[in-house]
Amino acid sequence: MKDIKSILQEQAVGSTLTVKGWVRTKRDTKNAIFLELNDGSCFGNLQCVFDVSNLSDQNKAALERLGTGASAAVTGTLVASPAAGQPVEVSAQSAEVIGEAPVDTYPLQKKAHSLEFLREIAHLRPRTNTFGAVARVRNQMSYAVHSFFQERGFNYVHTPIITASDCEGAGEMFQVTTLDMDAIAKAGKAVDYSKDFFGKPSFLSVSGQLNVETYCMALSKVYTFGPTFRAENSNTTRHLAEFWMIEPEFAFAELEDNMALAEDFLKYLLGWALDKCADDLDFFDKRIQKGLISMLDSVRNSKFVHMTYTDAIKQLEANKDTFEFKPYWGCDLQTEHERFLSETVVKGPLIVTDYPKEIKAFYMRLNEDGKTVRAMDVLVPRIGEIIGGSEREYRHDVLLNRIRELGLDEAAYWWYLDLRRFGTAPHSGFGLGFERLMRYVTGMENIRDVIPFPRAVKQAEF
Ligand code: 4AD
Ligand code: MG
Repeated sequence: MKDIKSILQEQAVGSTLTVKGWVRTKRDTKNAIFLELNDGSCFGNLQCVFDVSNLSDQNKAALERLGTGASAAVTGTLVASPAAGQPVEVSAQSAEVIGEAPVDTYPLQKKAHSLEFLREIAHLRPRTNTFGAVARVRNQMSYAVHSFFQERGFNYVHTPIITASDCEGAGEMFQVTTLDMDAIAKAGKAVDYSKDFFGKPSFLSVSGQLNVETYCMALSKVYTFGPTFRAENSNTTRHLAEFWMIEPEFAFAELEDNMALAEDFLKYLLGWALDKCADDLDFFDKRIQKGLISMLDSVRNSKFVHMTYTDAIKQLEANKDTFEFKPYWGCDLQTEHERFLSETVVKGPLIVTDYPKEIKAFYMRLNEDGKTVRAMDVLVPRIGEIIGGSEREYRHDVLLNRIRELGLDEAAYWWYLDLRRFGTAPHSGFGLGFERLMRYVTGMENIRDVIPFPRAVKQAEF
């Protein structure tokens, strides 16, 4: 059986076929009944036309039960469509009900539903135009990630999800335990982690970076792509508690190489979306963000602006009345600052480098000035930070100093420090937030709408 995508592509007029899918709409006219079937293989529906004048009783009964949302099988002949909007349609001979969707209880009717409402029925929303398109683009972007790195000789490494070390040192981790916390609390006892599953406190990983660095110091070019978890208490349109991240790491590479890789990578992904997801992007361009396609196309052909943090702060200070949070040298950039830099100052993506060490993670290479680190964030309009990365501190003594300065548990990082004791080498990497990329590529406003089942503060339904 062919899927609707192949049928619409091949346009084998004259062939007999059976098609299965879900009814998007049913329309009755005097002479004909039109069923629009969708099977998710592409954005488009396949129109199936039943001639009323010669409808068998069986078909008539079936069509009565086939409303929006029902699953059906239709058999007929593919013909050129006389109507605008589709090249071919099915001149239908028979309809079969596979599964009904009663009109009085099925929540997704023909009318447009708000994204907020659809979030409450996340198990049904993939059947809408918007979420079908998001799912297909998401699939293509995953494929493109692997394609990009595989073409360049990077090895995919599976880093662990459970960890005992805090990569970002921000303490925003979900704990993993098999201890009976209720019983411990009731007994008024202190928690004894030696009795816990791993014999010590353990967590869901916020990043695969530290682990992937170990493979970088052996295979030179590696990347990881997996789920990461952050217990950040921020209820925004750009934060999730569970999100996917792509983290390449490459050896004998400095910050400039890292910036070039990040820029190539983003452009490759946008180009892939433009080339492989044309119908879905067309929908997003029309219905979600006007001008999306030409924006993506111009970014694909642009050169990213580079700016140091210090210069960025100058730009922001010169416009400080614009901001709720007043910028100053040393402050962490807020979303409003990041957006101003990309939307107003640069009018496109930019890479900000050399941030103060105090606002960045412990593993970043310290600059000669002793104050800033070789960090880079890629900022894009609408989203702000989409990529965060750095050249890594590869000098053992400097890294150890940093760990001590920050009061981190030096013993816990013994294996990470070993990488600097044995055959250390300059290396760099970054993390691309997959859902931020998805927001960028689709124009969708809320990060909860670009992942199938969003996990956020007080939200773990489905
Ligand atoms: O800047 P971050 O925290 O960097 C790291 O985790 C590094 N270990 C990456 C590396 O160098 N290998 O996170 C990287 C990216 C951000 O730029 C953002 O796109 C995304 O991950 N991100 C989130 N996306 C959704 N929800 C959240 N709560 C996110 N936090 C970060
Ligand atoms: Mg960051």
